[in-house]
Amino acid sequence: MENDPAPGNAAKAAPKARVAVLISGTGSNMAALLYASRRADCPYEIVLVGSNDPQARGLALAAAEGVATFALPHKGMKRAEHDAAMEQAVLDAGAQYIALAGYMRILSPEFVSRWEGRMLNIHPSLLPKYKGLDTHARAIEAGDSHAGCSVHLVTAELDDGPVLGQTPVAILPGDTPETLAARVLYAEHQLYSRMLEELVTRPYRADWLLAKVGELALSLPEAEARESHGAPGWRTGGKSGKYFAYFNDRHHGEPHVALLVKTDGPDELAALVERDPDIWFRPAYYGASGWAGLILDRPGVDWDHVRGWLERSWRTVAPRRLTALMDAADEF
Ligand code: GAR
Repeated sequence: MENDPAPGNAAKAAPKARVAVLISGTGSNMAALLYASRRADCPYEIVLVGSNDPQARGLALAAAEGVATFALPHKGMKRAEHDAAMEQAVLDAGAQYIALAGYMRILSPEFVSRWEGRMLNIHPSLLPKYKGLDTHARAIEAGDSHAGCSVHLVTAELDDGPVLGQTPVAILPGDTPETLAARVLYAEHQLYSRMLEELVTRPYRADWLLAKVGELALSLPEAEARESHGAPGWRTGGKSGKYFAYFNDRHHGEPHVALLVKTDGPDELAALVERDPDIWFRPAYYGASGWAGLILDRPGVDWDHVRGWLERSWRTVAPRRLTALMDAADEF
C-alpha cells in the first residue's frame, strides 16, 4: 500500500493532511491542487471546496471529481457571520488546513487568527509588490521586467504574511494584463501545490522540527546550542554547563524524530511511556539515566507541552543563580 513503511521499520507514515480550498471563481488553482493531490504519494488531500458564489465554476468541477462542496452567498450577511458559516463547513469536513485560491473575500481577523500557520493564499504578484487587485496592469505600467506569483501564509493584513515561495514570470513586449495573467497562471499552478506540500510536511521534517525546537530551547536563560556525539543539543550554565535537551533524528535506529528531555528518573519515564506511548519512548542509552524521548514527528504536537518540558528539563540542570531568578518570576 502506498506510504506504508516496510515491516520492521516502526515509523508510521504521516497521514495525509486534510485541506479545504476556498474559491470565488474559475478555480483553476483549486484544480491544480486537486490534480496534484491525486498523486499516490501526495501528502495532502482535498476534503472540501467552498465558495461564496454558488455559481463558481470550480464548484462544478470539484463535485464532478467527487470532492465535497459547500457554497454560501455572502450577500446580505455580516462578514463575521459569513466567515463563521464557511469555517463551520471547513471544520465539519475535518480540514486541518485552508488553501485560499482566488477567494475574493477579506476574512475577519478572528477567523484568520484561528488558522494561523494553517491557512495559505496565492497572489498574482511578487509580494510585497502589488497587493490587492489589478496586479498585472500595475506591473506592466511600472515597466517591471517580471511579474509573478507568491504563495504566503495568511495573516490579518491583506496579501501579507510570510511568503512561502514565489515564481517570477517575464513580462513580454506587448503583454496586456490578460496575456500576462494567463501566463502567470501557469506558474501559479506549479507553485501552489509545491508550497502546500511543503507546508503540510513541515511538522514531520527533521530540519523544520530542529529549527522549531532550537528556537524554544534558546529562549531559555543562558541556553546555548552545542553538538553532542553528532546530535544537536542545548545546555546551560556556561563553560561547564550541562545539557538539558538533545535532538534525535532517528538516532540509534529509533524510528522517531524526537526531543530528549530529563525526567525525575526511570520511574517517571516508565510512567510516561506507559500512559502515552504515541508521545513518549525510552531512548537507547539515555533512557537508563531518566532521559525521555518526546516524539515530534507526529500529528498534533502541542508546542506548549514541548516548551513546558524543555523548561522543566532546563530547571533540573541550570545553576542555582539562574533557577532562583525563574522561581522569583514564578512568584508573580
Ligand atoms: C488567481 O490568479 C489568483 O492568484 C488570484 O485570483 C486568480 C484566481 O484564479 N487571487 C488573488 O488575486 C487574491 N488576491 P482561479 O480561480 O482560476 O484559481
